[in-house]
Amino acid sequence: MPVLRDPSSLRKWRQQLRGSLAFVPTMGHLHAGHLALLRLAQARAEQVLVSIYVNPLQFGPGEDFSSYPRSVEEDLRKLAEAGCTSVFVPSDQDLYPLGATEQTRVVPPLALSDILCGVQRPGHFSGVATIVLKLLHLAEPDILVLGEKDYQQFRIVQQMLSDFDLATQLLCGPTERDTDGLALSSRNSRLSPEQRVIAPQLATELRKLCQLPANSLALPAAQETGERLQAAGFVLDYLELRDSTTLQTINNTRSGARWFAAARLGAVRLIDNMVIP
Ligand code: PAF
Repeated sequence: MPVLRDPSSLRKWRQQLRGSLAFVPTMGHLHAGHLALLRLAQARAEQVLVSIYVNPLQFGPGEDFSSYPRSVEEDLRKLAEAGCTSVFVPSDQDLYPLGATEQTRVVPPLALSDILCGVQRPGHFSGVATIVLKLLHLAEPDILVLGEKDYQQFRIVQQMLSDFDLATQLLCGPTERDTDGLALSSRNSRLSPEQRVIAPQLATELRKLCQLPANSLALPAAQETGERLQAAGFVLDYLELRDSTTLQTINNTRSGARWFAAARLGAVRLIDNMVIP
């Protein structure tokens, strides 16, 4: 499995590649959720490229950029074992030679990006859209695979592909969960044993919200649930019902709408979302 360390090696590799290519961008510290995205990519294309890059552009001041878990050697081993075709592991200097602050940025529509995670993380989705666009230009994949757990990110990238007339097809891989329901995330490895016991309650409460009768009022249900989560030890950033396409708020529950939550346990911020069946 070739490990491509800079953009020119990736370009050369891409030029000689035969067959369809699916691309799974990641920030590494790979878990079963990433490997499920890899399998989805493998089922849809002949070749699969994974990138491992902790993108400084999508972290704000005081966020966990420096403490974000990194385990590149272990990641490469997992990817080789899983039959990944090739891996792109660039450095900051390769991707942002003039420095991250000098980089031209993509600005996603505010209606999608200054809500939910965009409120606590201003500039985050601009950083995500910028790196994804850069990687797409370098890798030129036929298919891009993103996870449903980061649903707001998925919608923003989907909109960007459409707005910039990019031909890449976008696939959304379902959220992988631990047996107790906790959505898999690289950040879970930073939960203390006590926090790990509490963490699945976020998914449990989202599942309960999804089971409310159709046309129930969302706000009181969210308030009640939020109080329970805070009592369990979470600091809630948001818990909201929104439209799955526009991401605008919805007052009453209905099939296809989506509950979104972000909550912190100590220094670890967990996000999750579930669609009403
Ligand atoms: O979802 C992620 O891991 C990141 O936001 C992504 C898409 C790899 C961009 O850095």
